[in-house]
Amino acid sequence: MSTLLQHAQIDWDDQGRPHSRQYDDVYFAVNEGIEETKHVFLGQTRLAERFANLPAHSCTVIGETGFGTGMNFFCAWQLFDQHAHSDARLHFVSVEKYPLGHADMLRAVRLWPELAAYTEPLLEQYVAVHPGFQQFTFANGRVTLTLLIGDVLEQLPQLDAQVDVWFLDGFAPAKNPDMWTPQLFAQLARLSHSATVLGTFTTTGWVRRSLVEAGFAMKKVPGIGKKWEVMSGAYVGPMPGPAAPWYARPALAQGPREALVIGAGLAGSCSAASLARRGWQVTVLERHDAPAREASGNPQGVLYLKLSAHGTALSQMILSGFGYTRRQLERLQRGRDWDACGVLQLAFDSKEAERQGKLAAAFDHDLLHSLGRTEAQTIAGVALPAGGLFYPEGGWVHPPALCQQQLQHPGIRLVTHQEVVELRKVAGQWQAWAGDRLLASAPTVVLAGAADIRRFEPCAQLPLKRIRGQITRLPATPGSRSLRTVVCAEGYVAPPRGDEHTLGASFDFHSEDLTPTLAEHQGNLALLDEISTDLASHLGVAALDAEQLQGRAAFRCTSPDYLPIVGPVADPALFGEAFAVLGKDARQVPEVACPWLDGLYVNSGHGSRGLITAPLSGELIAAWASGEPLPLPRAVAEACHPNRFMLRKLIRGK
Ligand SMILES: Cc1cc2nc3c(=O)[nH]c(=O)nc-3n(C[C@H](O)[C@H](O)[C@H](O)COP(=O)(O)OP(=O)(O)OC[C@H]3O[C@@H](n4cnc5c(N)ncnc54)[C@H](O)[C@@H]3O)c2cc1C
Ligand SMILES: C[S@@+](CC[C@H](N)C(=O)[O-])C[C@H]1O[C@@H](n2cnc3c(N)ncnc32)[C@H](O)[C@@H]1O
Repeated sequence: MSTLLQHAQIDWDDQGRPHSRQYDDVYFAVNEGIEETKHVFLGQTRLAERFANLPAHSCTVIGETGFGTGMNFFCAWQLFDQHAHSDARLHFVSVEKYPLGHADMLRAVRLWPELAAYTEPLLEQYVAVHPGFQQFTFANGRVTLTLLIGDVLEQLPQLDAQVDVWFLDGFAPAKNPDMWTPQLFAQLARLSHSATVLGTFTTTGWVRRSLVEAGFAMKKVPGIGKKWEVMSGAYVGPMPGPAAPWYARPALAQGPREALVIGAGLAGSCSAASLARRGWQVTVLERHDAPAREASGNPQGVLYLKLSAHGTALSQMILSGFGYTRRQLERLQRGRDWDACGVLQLAFDSKEAERQGKLAAAFDHDLLHSLGRTEAQTIAGVALPAGGLFYPEGGWVHPPALCQQQLQHPGIRLVTHQEVVELRKVAGQWQAWAGDRLLASAPTVVLAGAADIRRFEPCAQLPLKRIRGQITRLPATPGSRSLRTVVCAEGYVAPPRGDEHTLGASFDFHSEDLTPTLAEHQGNLALLDEISTDLASHLGVAALDAEQLQGRAAFRCTSPDYLPIVGPVADPALFGEAFAVLGKDARQVPEVACPWLDGLYVNSGHGSRGLITAPLSGELIAAWASGEPLPLPRAVAEACHPNRFMLRKLIRGK
């Protein structure tokens, strides 16, 4: 799988049209472009009628090959705005091999001032667009855009979605024969259902025949402008078989869209936000007096990407999660709630330098690049012992601000001082109890209480571990304010938020006590010394009375494979019975439904990188619970699935 990003190479011709150097073709005709889109894609798929007939809370999924400048997306969104019920949703999934750089995107969309209401929100969020699944949220969540960055033949097989309408774009088949292949058409068929329709500008004979072979009934229809004819189609082929039962989609909850979320840290707040944006009424129960009082309560956390050059599931999750979080942060106040000051990971020893070299070769320059020591010092503003890997789009976040912002939705009710002790399922409702007090109930519940979700019986067997960590708060000095970027080695230090720097963080695998300790403050100061003795001296560390140091401790919550645990939950005992045969033959896929605990979901195990994984995990929960396209490749969603541990145990016979 390619992790390297290549942007579109565009020449602007004398009529102001973008021309692709990679495909030697124009993206659109400058005058007829919008009319062509409206005729070929919106008209032939009768989109206005479809939108007008959408029931409340339903979601239309449009799939597209070739996002390009996004014109089809903007026009579809505009039409949706004009015709759809205010509670209906649009989810637009588009694949793009060569995404436009920001400057080209800006230049392209400014050609259509009449679409500014749709193009400007995209421009505001057009950051951290890297390979893989990149999700965007617009119009308070009414519109979702999932860009799959990469070749369509690599990306579409990873998509888990049911597409209602296809826009088959992409440059002309003669100019782009690699895309218009039977493999592509088979993917379109796999993702279609019995009411799926398709529009395309091409009438090329072999494209039409291949689409028919893949299961689409195609017809030529009158075109527009220079195109005499275009094509529309409908899927009439067979339906794909279901996924393996343990990772299949559970049936959707019937009745009102109401959910409980237990825990108001990053995982709970983001799950609540993702559900509320999809029209759910959400009650969040939190045991403390406010959100973000535990792991999510540090003054500054770092957007730290621990990637792998091998494109592992975790690495894909991190790249998608980073992009999603970064776009959410654009809505918060810079300087106070977060800062995109960049993150520098020092090459503090030869092993780390080697690891960084591999990453620099595997990923694009805009995401990360190596810096020599002198350049690194210039960017960081302090003297450093080594160069390192610089992530210009990274930075720090005040996690409580992100939690608060996520909870700001009229569909969310936060109830504090409520510790849930027991869950019961009664008459289709999950009830949250504290002793003999019924706190709340709803047909759907998301457990987002970090490692404490194990107190609820269905989650008791989840292998979650708590790791205590402590940060140290250091008052900024005039000299320390020269630090301009987050710098990490074994620990990390951030530029000041207000009058304080955050220095982190210790790891203690055994302690259950959250009182900050002197030893760990001293350990953090030793981590600072490894990062920069210059900064340590600006901060006057030698003269500090360690006993007076301020900080806080909390538990990280990790899983054995370091992936979060996100998704629907099955009954552990019944699961073992249903799939016992796997103990004898791991290749068997029994035709037995998974014994889901209907409406029960978890969002936990975010370890040391919740800022990157928890917000997108909220979207993943909402996608499972609402039947929408998954915001991550199927294989990554499976790698994060709560059932994975029971499955492995069965297969290993333990
Ligand atoms: C010292 C330290 C430094 C870190 N640094 C970074 C960093 O730089 N970058 C980064 O990305 N991540 C960092 N992390 C990790 C990050 O903070 C976590 O991954 C993230 O906060 C986890 O969010 P959560 O919502 O899962 O858990 P929490 O924030 O712990 O939230 C769980 C919530 O559930 C509530 N709850 C639990 N059980 C119940 C119940 N039964 N009833 C009611 N409420 C309940 C709790 O009160 C709590 O509010 C750090 C963590 C620590 C400890
Ligand atoms: C004609 S443009 C799309 C026009 C676009 N809908 C717009 O409004 O600008 C075709 C797009 O398809 C993309 N593309 C071509 N082949 C592809 C492939 N194999 N995988 C993914 N994207 C591809 C190109 O990079 C280009 O952006």
